[in-house]
Amino acid sequence: MQIGIDQLAFYTPSTYLDLVDLAHARGEEPDKYRIGIGQYEQAVIPVTQDAVTLAANAAAKVVDETNRDQIAMVLFGTESGIDNSKSAAVYLKRLLNLPDNIRAIELKQACYGATAGVQFAHDYVFLHPDKQVLVIGADIARYGLNTPGEVTQGGGAVALTISAEPKLLNLDNETAFKSEDIMDFWRPLYRTEALVDGRFSENVYIDFFKTVWQDYQQQTNRTIADFTAFAFHLPFTKMGLKALRAILPEASEAQQKQLMANFEASRQYNQRVGNLYTGSLYLSLRSLFDNASLKPGERIGLFSYGSGAEGEFFSGTISEQFDVQVSRDEFANFFKNRQRLNMPEYERLFSQQLPAHDVLLDLSHDDARFVLTGIKHDQRQYLDRQQA
Ligand code: HMG
Repeated sequence: MQIGIDQLAFYTPSTYLDLVDLAHARGEEPDKYRIGIGQYEQAVIPVTQDAVTLAANAAAKVVDETNRDQIAMVLFGTESGIDNSKSAAVYLKRLLNLPDNIRAIELKQACYGATAGVQFAHDYVFLHPDKQVLVIGADIARYGLNTPGEVTQGGGAVALTISAEPKLLNLDNETAFKSEDIMDFWRPLYRTEALVDGRFSENVYIDFFKTVWQDYQQQTNRTIADFTAFAFHLPFTKMGLKALRAILPEASEAQQKQLMANFEASRQYNQRVGNLYTGSLYLSLRSLFDNASLKPGERIGLFSYGSGAEGEFFSGTISEQFDVQVSRDEFANFFKNRQRLNMPEYERLFSQQLPAHDVLLDLSHDDARFVLTGIKHDQRQYLDRQQA
């Protein structure tokens, strides 16, 4: 029996910032952002979207009458949680009208949370092959105006269904992981923006990648020659390029070309969205699926990294039923119709934060199906416009 990723959907709001505009405003060379960082555009998230609504807007694309009753768990990876106690998964369960006999849990370890969900889901479906697990990665990446991290902001959500005989990627059983208590990036409870030691975080990312890649090869006796492509957690896309370059000399010259071409395919969407923390690796995988020419049986390597830190290298093979045309069209349409913000509009949207008291929000600039309408009696109020 094969177990893996059956569906993989993404959502981010349509407002974005062109990073050439940001470079001009911050007195930087546009090429520093486009080449040095590897980013072109950045999603800007309005105050009417939070981790729950981003997740609901993504998950509504993978949950319908054909699989709703099969879903046994919602595993919600996020580091942008909205409550210290209640999980975002429980809100999502209601918004999606999922059955009550379900486990709904939030998972946190920086950008690694969704991968924890994928691995737990894999093991659960192994024991319960007639069930599916809904895995979410939903976040808003914020460093602050005029900070070095500003160019690496972004946000959005991915929603994956993990099932037996999946339509996209059959996950291999072997996986290599590592955790260590490191202060490269963190966000204390009283802060809305992350604290980061930028260069150090890049070095730790590469060290973790090399360690788990070695461990994976020892466990499996596979080498780089067994891989058609790699997908990385992409806090900014140059980071993945640095990781790939660290192992590229292990490949033949012809294979190096193929791996580089597939890396370009894997970063197309991320270059235009920015970091979305937990969802970043899976947006990159979606980008690889849609923009490379992959064939059934080909093996993909995935590197997940969450600061603090946890890293994991795992792999999967392209499914026999693999088909990406619908997703390709959806992304092409989405990018074509986005709304470009100027700098004052971006700074105003970025600075709008939810107050710590009851409020009714203006929804006129948010056309999403699921929106946050405000706070009443210290409870977030959500609206599904299809039910209104
Ligand atoms: P910075 O100090 O502004 O940038 O911060 P820099 O001066 O280091 O320049 C960046 C690159 O641009 C350099 O290349 C320059 O040479 C190049 P590199 O040495 O890196 O190869 N450059 C140019 N290239 C072409 N033309 C030019 C030009 N000028 C310069 N004209 C930094 C950059 C990424 C550190 C900053 O944006 C930051 O702190 N970002 C946030 C931290 C981050 O994303 N870390 C990644 C690893 S940790 C991680 O992935 C986890 C995370 O997702 C969080 C989680 O797990 O929850 C972040």
